[in-house]
Amino acid sequence: MLLQLGSTRSWTSDRLEPMKQHGLKIAERSKIAPFFAMEVLRSANQLAAAGNDILHLEVGEPGFGAPAKVINVAKTALDDGALGYTEALGTPEFRGRIARHYETYYGVTIPPNRVVATAGASGAFLLAFLAAFDVNDKIAVVEPGYPAYRNILTALGLQVVPLRAGPEQRFQPTIDLLRDVGPINGLIVASPSNPTGTMLSSGELETLASWCKNNDVRLVSDEIYHGISYGHSPTTAVSFGDQGIVVNSFSKYFAMTGWRIGWMVVPPDLVPGIERLAQNLFVSPASLPQHAALIALDCRNELDIYVQTYARNRKFLLEHLPSAGFDKLAPADGAFYLYADVSDLTKDSKEFCNQMLEEAGVATTPGIDFDPQRGHQYLRFSFAGSEQTIVEAAERLVNWRR
Ligand SMILES: Cc1ncc(COP(=O)(O)O)c(C=O)c1O
Repeated sequence: MLLQLGSTRSWTSDRLEPMKQHGLKIAERSKIAPFFAMEVLRSANQLAAAGNDILHLEVGEPGFGAPAKVINVAKTALDDGALGYTEALGTPEFRGRIARHYETYYGVTIPPNRVVATAGASGAFLLAFLAAFDVNDKIAVVEPGYPAYRNILTALGLQVVPLRAGPEQRFQPTIDLLRDVGPINGLIVASPSNPTGTMLSSGELETLASWCKNNDVRLVSDEIYHGISYGHSPTTAVSFGDQGIVVNSFSKYFAMTGWRIGWMVVPPDLVPGIERLAQNLFVSPASLPQHAALIALDCRNELDIYVQTYARNRKFLLEHLPSAGFDKLAPADGAFYLYADVSDLTKDSKEFCNQMLEEAGVATTPGIDFDPQRGHQYLRFSFAGSEQTIVEAAERLVNWRR
């Protein structure tokens, strides 16, 4: 039993509405929902600082650093000192290397001028949504899904249209779900998905891409978890025409979260607008990580060893979580998450996660982050950490639930 009972109670919206100290207005757009995984991280860190032994299964962050060669190249680039602004869409070397990655990894040919370097996938979303959509456009997002899609769209004045997918759709969008929601301007898909890890087959992604094309809907395909899958190879939406926007990043497979580097492959007609937006919003993507990323793409041997660790963690949790009562788990085809239906254990997963953190010292993320409507009956385990963390977390959870 941990000591700091009550210390994590600030996971509520109290921090959303700071006390006004003057008559100046605060923009409505800033009043978006928090990212609860980060709130849990804050609470977990507070408990750890107070001397408690906390196991982190809340954040989706690889437990490894960037590959050694990447760090060496970054050190050399720092010593060489030539780290000025780059072109707003990225260096020609970076854009060319990413184009080559599509050739070698997926067998798809794209011109480098469709590649845009960004500040992670997050920076890509901002540019993509601004370039492709207008205020009040309707964008369909799958629930459960990555919360920032919904929150960025809301901050930009776009309308979020939830596609409520359940286990029967493997938590992925289907044409039936799309037909049910009426006219939309955009659709965001993620395969493998966060929080469920489920993947669209190549045929399913192709069906969605051609439905989007036939209905003048801009497809945004978040492919950030490509490279981390357990038996199924991912397909890129780049294969199915040049009208969709594909987002990717060095944060997950490449284990470079804090380097803040990602990319997009965009339709030719969006390039000029994205370039103007990038010039004005960011001037340039960061220079150092663009250098380093070139090498990261050549470090597959090292990175595949990381993936083998995630695979062992996944197997261990799938074997042991049911003994702790977590037996309704989404099929994690990829990424490093297990999304658990905890409706037999609680009616309030936020409170349940809070209790788990305080009593067992295991931090997880409540489903409300990913699904405001049904998330109170789900929680997400991240198994991106070390094997030791995962083994100990499973042990603690079994004892906690005894
Ligand atoms: C599905 C998904 N997309 C995008 C991101 C943001 O990634 P980045 O660090 O590249 O901004 C995350 C981060 O967890 C994610 O899970």
